[in-house]
Amino acid sequence: MYSPIFYFFLFVLFLRCSIANTSFEPQVRNYHSSVYIENKLYILGGYNGGPLNSLLYLDLSISFNKDHPPWFCLGYHGIPFGVFKAAASFGGIDNSTIFLIGGERSEKEINYVYSFNTKSFTWNDSLINDDNTPKWHVDIQGVTDRNGKIYIYGGWLSGIRSNELSILDTRRLSWKTGPSPDSQSGRYGHTITLLSNGIIVIIGGYVDGGGGLHEILLYDINERKWSSMITQGIKLSYRIYHTAILTNDNRIIVYGGTKNPLDPDLVVLDTNFQPFKWSTLEVNAINSPPSLFGHTANLVGDYMILAFVPEPPEVPKPPVKSNRYFMSKGMIFQLFCESAPFTFHLYLSSI
Ligand SMILES: *[C@@H]1O[C@H](CO)[C@@H](O)[C@H](O)[C@H]1NC(C)=O
Ligand SMILES: *[C@@H]1O[C@H](CO)[C@@H](O)[C@H](O)[C@H]1NC(C)=O
Ligand SMILES: *[C@@H]1O[C@H](CO)[C@@H](O)[C@H](O)[C@H]1NC(C)=O
Repeated sequence: MYSPIFYFFLFVLFLRCSIANTSFEPQVRNYHSSVYIENKLYILGGYNGGPLNSLLYLDLSISFNKDHPPWFCLGYHGIPFGVFKAAASFGGIDNSTIFLIGGERSEKEINYVYSFNTKSFTWNDSLINDDNTPKWHVDIQGVTDRNGKIYIYGGWLSGIRSNELSILDTRRLSWKTGPSPDSQSGRYGHTITLLSNGIIVIIGGYVDGGGGLHEILLYDINERKWSSMITQGIKLSYRIYHTAILTNDNRIIVYGGTKNPLDPDLVVLDTNFQPFKWSTLEVNAINSPPSLFGHTANLVGDYMILAFVPEPPEVPKPPVKSNRYFMSKGMIFQLFCESAPFTFHLYLSSI
C-alpha cells in the first residue's frame, strides 16, 4: 500500500500540472513593469485598485493561440509585496536576473532593490549594501547596457520631479550617481531608451513647463555627457506614461500615454536622421488598439507586445463585480522592421 503522503504528493503534482495547463487570466492593470529574458516576457506587479504582487510570464518560445496567450502566474514565487511605478530590467552575469527597483510598494520600504533569479525562481532582498543607494524614487524606468549596468533617470522623489541619474551595476552589485542635466529637466512618466551607439534617449514625461516631444534629452554613456535636441518632423505635444521600444534599425516606436487626443497613439522617432525625426505610421484602424497609458511594450522578434489592454468600452459590463469584469486583453502586433514604409499587422487577442 502507498502511504497517504504518496497520494498527497501525487495530488500536488497533479494540481501543479493542471495549474500549468490552465489558461490563466491576469487582471487588467497599469503601471506594472515588464522584462524580457530568454524568450519569456515577465510582468511584475501593477495597479488595479491597489498594488499587485503578481509575477507573470508568457513563454514566447512556444507557439500558442493568440486569442488565448498562455500566461503563467508564478504564484508563491510572486513579488514579496505589491508594487507599481517601479523600474525593472535584466542584469547579472548572464542577464538572467530581474532587478526590481523603487516604486510604490504595499509594504514598508526597506530595500530599494530586489532581484529575482529566473533560473532558481528565488528573490533576494539583501544583495546590495551600498552608501550610494539613491533616495527612494517612484515612477522610474531603467535600461540595461551591454555591461549589465542599469541606467535610471528622473522619477518622483518625495514631492519633486527628479533629474537624477543613477546607475546600478548588476554584476558588482553597486550604485553610482551619474551627472545630472539642468534642474528644468526633472520629470516622471517619461521613457528611457538605449541606442546601439550608447546614447540614451529620454522622451516626454511630466516635465516642468509641460514640454512637447520635439525637445528630447540625450545622455551619452561613453562620454558621460548630457545634451538636448530639437527634433524634426511632425509636431507632437506632451506625452506621459507612454511606452518606447527600439527596433533593430534604430527607430523608436512610441505608443499611447496621456496626451493631446489629437496626437496619434503610434508615432516613430527615427534616430537615423540628424536631428532625429518624428513621423506617424499608417495603421489599419479596424484592428488598432485603444489608447493606453501606464502599459508596457516589448519588442520580441518582429512583434511589439503591449500589455495590458482593457475590455473595449462597447462590451457591456456585467452589473455585478465578477472575474469577468476584470478580464483583460493582451495584444500582439507584428511589425516588419526591414521594409519601409512598414506595415502593421495587428492582432487583438483576449486572454
Ligand atoms: C496540457 O499540457 C499537455 C502537455 O503540454 C498537453 O499535451 C495537453 O493538451 C494540455 N491539456 C490541455 C487541456 O490544454
Ligand atoms: C543575496 O545576494 C547576496 C549578494 O550576491 C548574497 O551574498 C546572498 O547570499 C544572497 N542571498 C540569498 C538568499 O540568495
Ligand atoms: C546582456 O545584455 C546586453 C544588452 O542586451 C548585451 O549587450 C550583452 O551581450 C548580454 N550579455 C550576456 C552575457 O548575455
